[in-house]
Amino acid sequence: MKRIMIHSQPRDSLIMINERLANLGDYLPVDKPIIITDENVMAIWGKHFPPGDVITIGTGETIKSFHTVHHIYEQLLSLEADRASFIVGIGGGIVCDIAGFAASTYMRGVRFGFVSTTLLSQVDASVGGKNGFNLGGYKNIVGVFNQPEFVICDLDMLKTVPREEILSGFAEIIKHGAIADRDLFAFLETNREPALALDSQVMEKLVFDSVVIKSEIVNQDEKEKGERRKLNFGHTFGHAIEKLTNVRHGEAVSAGMVLAAKLSVKKNKLSPEASNRLMALIDNYGLPVRLNFDRDAVLKTLRMDKKREGDQVFFVFLNEIGDACIEQIDFRELETLVGV
Ligand SMILES: NC(=O)c1ccc[n+]([C@@H]2O[C@H](COP(=O)([O-])OP(=O)(O)OC[C@H]3O[C@@H](n4cnc5c(N)ncnc54)[C@H](O)[C@@H]3O)[C@@H](O)[C@H]2O)c1
Ligand SMILES: [Zn+2]
Repeated sequence: MKRIMIHSQPRDSLIMINERLANLGDYLPVDKPIIITDENVMAIWGKHFPPGDVITIGTGETIKSFHTVHHIYEQLLSLEADRASFIVGIGGGIVCDIAGFAASTYMRGVRFGFVSTTLLSQVDASVGGKNGFNLGGYKNIVGVFNQPEFVICDLDMLKTVPREEILSGFAEIIKHGAIADRDLFAFLETNREPALALDSQVMEKLVFDSVVIKSEIVNQDEKEKGERRKLNFGHTFGHAIEKLTNVRHGEAVSAGMVLAAKLSVKKNKLSPEASNRLMALIDNYGLPVRLNFDRDAVLKTLRMDKKREGDQVFFVFLNEIGDACIEQIDFRELETLVGV
């Protein structure tokens, strides 16, 4: 097991990689926590939960709504939850985002922790203290920054996660290597087979390195002003593609990273060889290097992006593998770079 302490206000957060759901009780300050999970996780892993009340939510991005948060508040009321209660979100990014939000706001904040059960939530969603839900077609538009007291990343639980969901996690790991760690990138290149077979030692390193990278970036910039934008590598286009097509987040981000790498080559920042290396890695992990989408529509969606400031967009380029930079570029320049 590997541990990382994330230093934050109002509290630190302990992330444990390769710890087990079975040991959850060791980290609980109460005998019976209130568990928030989803139907799939409940069906497969519910029998291993510690004693306690369980609130089960549905699955899919549409469940990440105020309606679900309201339902959780009502359940908490009927369970007579109070400030001495402890909430544990056991699930992927959706459960963790929504459980973290409910716990942070019910009675102005109840203590909480996570058992993170998908690769994406282990390497991304449960690090950084963002919680929230979707509203009016906007993802994560309502939320708070608040750290869980602990996050257990149980690598055994990944074995039951559908393959395409696992791939979304790999897309974020590749992103972390590309923006901040060329050794991690090279490790991904040489350990493709054990990684895709979810070998426990290889996964421990991949999840640990990812958490270190994300937490270091977040520590420097908790409220998303500068450094944290690097984590958006591939996401500017990725989010727009995701909105317009029905592909998964990881697939959209993969195609977005390839586009961002190509733009980095066009701007004379990145060598064509390095861009090809990124493309090959994405392809080797079974993720798409290009997707069919309507370029005009993608640019139009980008124009409406909530993160835009005036005519400028913050865009994450690569200088080399393991080194990213953020530049505010004019929207028209982006259009010409994309070749519209
Ligand atoms: N807070 C953040 O910083 C942050 C960062 C990245 C993503 N996110 C959010 O995370 C969400 C996506 O997370 P996700 O990819 O984990 O999706 P998810 O929570 O929907 O999980 C994917 C699917 O896997 C199932 N599942 C979860 N664990 C399982 C297990 N161990 N075995 C079998 N099935 C399992 C779920 O029921 C679901 O159907 C998005 O809403 C995104 O906005 C948040
Ligand atoms: Zn992402």
